[in-house]
Amino acid sequence: MNITVIGRGNIGGGLADLWERAGHQVTRLGRGGGDASASDAVLLAVPGAAVEAALASVTGLEGKTVLDATNLYGGARPPDGFSSNAEYVKSVTGGPTAKAFSTNFASLFGRIADARVRPSGLWAGDDQAQDVVSRLSDDAGFEAVRLGDLSMAATQEGLAGTLFAIAQSGLGEFVYRMAPPEEL
Ligand SMILES: NC(=O)c1ccc[n+]([C@@H]2O[C@H](COP(=O)([O-])OP(=O)(O)OC[C@H]3O[C@@H](n4cnc5c(N)ncnc54)[C@H](OP(=O)(O)O)[C@@H]3O)[C@@H](O)[C@H]2O)c1
Repeated sequence: MNITVIGRGNIGGGLADLWERAGHQVTRLGRGGGDASASDAVLLAVPGAAVEAALASVTGLEGKTVLDATNLYGGARPPDGFSSNAEYVKSVTGGPTAKAFSTNFASLFGRIADARVRPSGLWAGDDQAQDVVSRLSDDAGFEAVRLGDLSMAATQEGLAGTLFAIAQSGLGEFVYRMAPPEEL
C-alpha cells in the first residue's frame, strides 16, 4: 500500500519503519505538511492538541482512510464541537476513519517481530476502515481488536492515562493481548 504518515516521531516513524519492512511505500510528513492524494491510507501521529494544525497543512485528504493514533491526556481536549480527535478527523476528510495504534507503546515496536504471540492493538472506528486497520496492524506485528465504532474513539483516546498509570506502577512499558477463550 501507499501510506502517508503525518507525524514522523516515535509512533509515526516507528510504524513507518515496520510498514516499510513489510513492503509498503511510506511518505513521512512533519509539521511542514505535504500532499497525501496518492495514498491508500493515512496515519495521523501528531501531538493530540496539534490535530487541527496538522490536517490543515496536508492537501489531498478528501475521502482518505485515516488511522488516527493521537491521544489526549493532561487536560487536552478535542477540537470544539467534537467528542474525539478521530471524529474531528472524519469531519475534515469525509472518509473511513479509525482510532488505531493509540494504545501501543512505540518504544517496543522494535521487539514486536520477536514476540512469542501477537500483541493486541485496540481500534475503534468505521466498518469501511476495518480491512486497512487489520492489514496494517498485522504488518506491524499486532492483532487488531475492535473496541467499537467511531463513537468509541473518545473512550480509546481517554485510555492513555490508564496505560501510563499501569506502566508507572511497576510494569514499565508493556504489550497486552486480548484473545477469545478458545486460545486458552
Ligand atoms: N509514543 C508513543 O508510544 C505513543 C503511543 C501511542 C500513541 N501516541 C500518540 O501519538 C502521537 C505522536 O506521539 P509521538 O510520541 O510519536 O510524538 P513525537 O515523537 O513528538 O512526534 C510528533 C510528530 O508530530 C509532528 N508535529 C508536531 N506538531 C505538528 C503540527 N502542528 N503539525 C504537523 N505535525 C506536527 C512532529 O513534526 P516534526 O517532525 O516536523 O517535528 C513530529 O513528527 C501523540 O498524540 C501521542 O499521544 C504515542
